[in-house]
Amino acid sequence: MSRVSRAVLIAAIAMPISTAAAAQAHSQSDPLAPSGQFSVYRTAAAQTPPMGWNPWNAFHADVDEAKVRAVAKAMVDSGLATRGYRFVNIDDGWALRRLADGRLRIRDNTFPSSATPGSDTGSFKPFTDYIHGLGLKAGIYTDIGRNTCMQRWDADTPNLPVGTVAERQVGSYGHAVQDMRTIFADWHFDYIKVDACGVADYTHADPPVTSGAYDTFAPLIVRGNIPASNPQAVEGLYAALGEAIQRWGGGNATLSICAWGEALSALWGGKRGNLYRTSPDIESNWKSMVSNIDSVIDGALYAGPGHWNDPDMLEIGHGDFDAAHLTEARSHFTMWTIMASPLLLGYDLRQSAPALFDIVANPEAIAINQDPAGNQGVPYRNGDAMVVVKTLSGTGARAVALFNRGTKSVEASVSWAQLGFAAGSVAKVRDVWAHSDRDATDRISVTLPAHGSVLLRLRGTPSEVAATFLTNMPGRVNVAVDGLTQATALPMGQFPARVGAAPDGRILKTNGIGAFANSRLEVRADRAFHRFLTAPIVLSGGQPVRFRVYADRKLVGEVTGSPTRAAPPIDVDIASAKIVELVAMTNAGTTRPPMIAWGNARLMR
Ligand code: GLA
Repeated sequence: MSRVSRAVLIAAIAMPISTAAAAQAHSQSDPLAPSGQFSVYRTAAAQTPPMGWNPWNAFHADVDEAKVRAVAKAMVDSGLATRGYRFVNIDDGWALRRLADGRLRIRDNTFPSSATPGSDTGSFKPFTDYIHGLGLKAGIYTDIGRNTCMQRWDADTPNLPVGTVAERQVGSYGHAVQDMRTIFADWHFDYIKVDACGVADYTHADPPVTSGAYDTFAPLIVRGNIPASNPQAVEGLYAALGEAIQRWGGGNATLSICAWGEALSALWGGKRGNLYRTSPDIESNWKSMVSNIDSVIDGALYAGPGHWNDPDMLEIGHGDFDAAHLTEARSHFTMWTIMASPLLLGYDLRQSAPALFDIVANPEAIAINQDPAGNQGVPYRNGDAMVVVKTLSGTGARAVALFNRGTKSVEASVSWAQLGFAAGSVAKVRDVWAHSDRDATDRISVTLPAHGSVLLRLRGTPSEVAATFLTNMPGRVNVAVDGLTQATALPMGQFPARVGAAPDGRILKTNGIGAFANSRLEVRADRAFHRFLTAPIVLSGGQPVRFRVYADRKLVGEVTGSPTRAAPPIDVDIASAKIVELVAMTNAGTTRPPMIAWGNARLMR
């Protein structure tokens, strides 16, 4: 990007920053008051899930420029780039030391093109020029704390930073503006992954700290322990970094938050970044992949254009997902596709097996992942069989993944009711892996071998032509306030607002969205609808709950209900509003608010 267009973008992003500030000021006053906004991290970046490659799963710390450049070239030459793979990201291991004036010096023995005569820092500009010259985009890595993950967890590997304790503090803590300016304005990166070990793993008890090699950092994240962590402080650090990124990188810079779902980061990630990890690091085995699916599968209301749940990079090409395990590799890709997860390849593309290429380059699978509506698929479970339905853009367009987690073959099926199709209607069905077409009526059933999956694209007839159910547009719903306080936080991996289920996992009897009371949902109606209908339900607790509907901040509907006295249905004129907000409020429950549901919630054209 030219200097000029970068400056224009910097001017353009001044607005999202100030609206974010306005939204924050708003939520500090009364979080349940309508905001009139869709208050997610708003930049022009990542409008569909990012696609690309990262060296960590292939090389860990043993990375160098020659490998990364060769992989970038292979990404183009193989045709992967034309299928949508765009980012070439450097992970941990590039920083040599922090200089006395705070600037970062690049490790030029592994990134030789960075060596610049007369410069004591070096520059990544020749590297990013090369990547941009291939028509690709370049990404880099830092940590929100003073030190990175490799320094803590890979102490015996090559490419660790060198020098004094202070010189080895290559994380961005205390250097957010300076580092982002260098990385985006000087080095022209397009994407940054920001890890969090620096605020998690440098306590007195951690061996490298005990040995005196690193300063102590009073932990803001205690892994697996939300009450002992400080979610607000972690969120604050990422928020400040995000502002620095927008200032120096413009509105197209992508921010990947890597706090592994800790400190409630899976719940606030959408406000602070373009993608946010929901789980520990993926490993190249089936169990790890399934557990990372579970960390994200119920989070459809936490993803949408510009903000994506991230169950980590792909392990295709390694271990249980290598070229000798194509069933598993295909299932891994099927699930990342249907979950609208980022598609970051992690194997050495210089030696790609054609059979793996056929999986990761399947244009129909990629199109499902990249669908512009940005809906994450919604799951239905039946033992080891899992069915995931992703609403695509276009009337009656759906993708369905049928997935077998287990080691015995299972039957799996999806019904027209789950797809929102009219009973008795015929749908066109495309099998994305078998490359075959057929028609179906009322239900599709398949037999899945161990670890097997089927990925379908359907075109059917919606049961209510003029209605769009909120359950079919999770990418346009934002959980602005979830009703939880930190003290009542759910266990990690559970989402406090869900499609088709209450926060405790109980399946709703009506098609709807489950949440806690004292919550506020923002719906991006975009002036496309004129009425809103719902049957609100109180699922638990003894006290009444007040349900309010706002259209562009104007109160248009209000009813009260309790578990014993059902609330009357709401059917209101929303006058082509941009933003519809759904607020459920109660005085009850100091420990955990009652659970509620917005039953059959739908917008009418
Ligand atoms: C953490 C991250 C990984 C990788 C390593 C690098 O573990 O979660 O994805 O970036 O750090 O050290």
